[in-house]
Amino acid sequence: MGTREHEIYDIVGIGFGPSNLSLAIALEEHQNNASGRPVTAAFFERQAAFGWHRNMLLPQATMQISFLKDLATFRNPVSRYSFVSYLHASDRLVQFVNNQDFFPTRQEFHQYLEWAESNFSDRVTYNSEVTGIRLPENAGTGSEQYLEISVRDTASGATRVVRAHNVAVSTGLVPRMPEGMDRDERVWHSSEFLAKYGRMDPAELQNVAVVGAGQSAAEITKYLHDMLPHAQVSAILPSYGYSVADDTPFANQVFDPTAVDHYYFGSETTRDAFWRYHKNTNYSVVDDDVIRELFRRSYEEEVAGEKRLHFLNLTRVKEVKRSGNDTRVVLHSLLDDEAQQEMDVDALVFATGYQGMDATSLLGDLDRFCLRDKEGRHQVERDYRVVTEPGLSCGIYLQGGTEHTHGLTSSLLSNIAIRSGEIADSLVERRGEPARVGSGA
Ligand code: FDA
Ligand code: NAP
Repeated sequence: MGTREHEIYDIVGIGFGPSNLSLAIALEEHQNNASGRPVTAAFFERQAAFGWHRNMLLPQATMQISFLKDLATFRNPVSRYSFVSYLHASDRLVQFVNNQDFFPTRQEFHQYLEWAESNFSDRVTYNSEVTGIRLPENAGTGSEQYLEISVRDTASGATRVVRAHNVAVSTGLVPRMPEGMDRDERVWHSSEFLAKYGRMDPAELQNVAVVGAGQSAAEITKYLHDMLPHAQVSAILPSYGYSVADDTPFANQVFDPTAVDHYYFGSETTRDAFWRYHKNTNYSVVDDDVIRELFRRSYEEEVAGEKRLHFLNLTRVKEVKRSGNDTRVVLHSLLDDEAQQEMDVDALVFATGYQGMDATSLLGDLDRFCLRDKEGRHQVERDYRVVTEPGLSCGIYLQGGTEHTHGLTSSLLSNIAIRSGEIADSLVERRGEPARVGSGA
């Protein structure tokens, strides 16, 4: 895409994952249905092409939400960017229905996202990492005010500046390694799994281990057990066993659009109750079918007397000692506080989760305008706009990193169709025009 040098965009989107793709759709559908001036937008993505957690696109891994929680349907059920429209365009709608499954594979959902994204190539620039945002000295005031966004071309290294009245930060989750543990060619985080695994000779992988008891850990353990029939596969679990992800109907309501209001306008006690009772809908939990499949395999091996799938429960990694191709893992088990166990592996995968999005470093000096709560987190308005000092009229919208204000859906797909519609509405309304993007149709 060619961004226009002197144009001041209404909004620049930073990152082009599902959240900002959904925003691009909401803005387009607004344009199709409103008489006012179109909202001008440009998006920048550091990857070379669209990709949604590509390194975890494991065969048979399924979505953890219904296909109806796609980029648009909850906001606009007749959107041409719905998953159903994609199925129709792919001539698979009938067979999808015959398959009777609410949860497509992640690979199929990825194809859907790519299909939707292919309509926005004039608005998104790839190989483009946003490195900073600033308020220039001559930025003006009120609705004229603009921000300067620095964009680095990841191929050439060249940096250019783009101007906008608003930004939508949507840079996604940040991989989390345990303190003191570093990644390299033998020690991986789950977010880089398929890329790093693909560089190995499978014959060389005789002993592999996976750390963690969440969905990523369970899926990778299963994958390694499938792909390396000659290898010993160890799962290092901090818990006694995998716990099930609660996706039963009552609990699932915590992901409803109305739950965002209940969370946002609720008291501290309300918000605390969401986390206390419903963290197990998403964090450190695994889908029922994956748990049962792993247990079944383990039991079959016991029956056959050929055990190569091992579960080390209540165990944490204390240290990783690396030398050339050798990796020694020092383990601490809560079952035997005194003993220290060591294990040699050819590859070690830390499926130890992610930190939520934090816009602080991207905002740099601009962050001085952003108000924070007593725990140091950004204050965020209901329309996902950071609360700022009066000196800043430009809007900083967050798609992610709002768990403390908007609840559990902050980092998930469940509510992106509604959230992006709300952001699009907010942009138009704050321009002084009446708008209702939400209805879309
Ligand atoms: P996402 O991380 O997808 O995209 C952010 C984009 O910003 C990336 O493409 C990144 O390259 C780019 N970027 C980052 N910094 C940048 C910068 N400075 N400049 C330019 N670009 C930058 N949720 C759910 O509801 N159902 C599910 O089934 C799943 N499944 C799932 C599987 C796996 C393996 C993971 C790790 C997570 C999930 N999730 C999930 C949760 C996940 O957060 C969600 O699916 C989306 O990825 C959220 O979309 P975003 O666009 O917000 O972030
Ligand atoms: P997660 O749910 O946060 O799980 C991380 C696991 O690592 C937990 O068991 C955690 O234990 C453990 N851990 C963290 N630090 C550790 C340490 N120092 N030592 C040992 N163990 C440690 O992360 P995830 O499994 O990557 O899931 C992240 C998100 O992606 C979730 O929303 C999930 O649903 C999603 N996901 C979806 C799919 C799919 O759609 N098919 C696939 C994978 C992931 P504690 O509980 O003790 O912290």
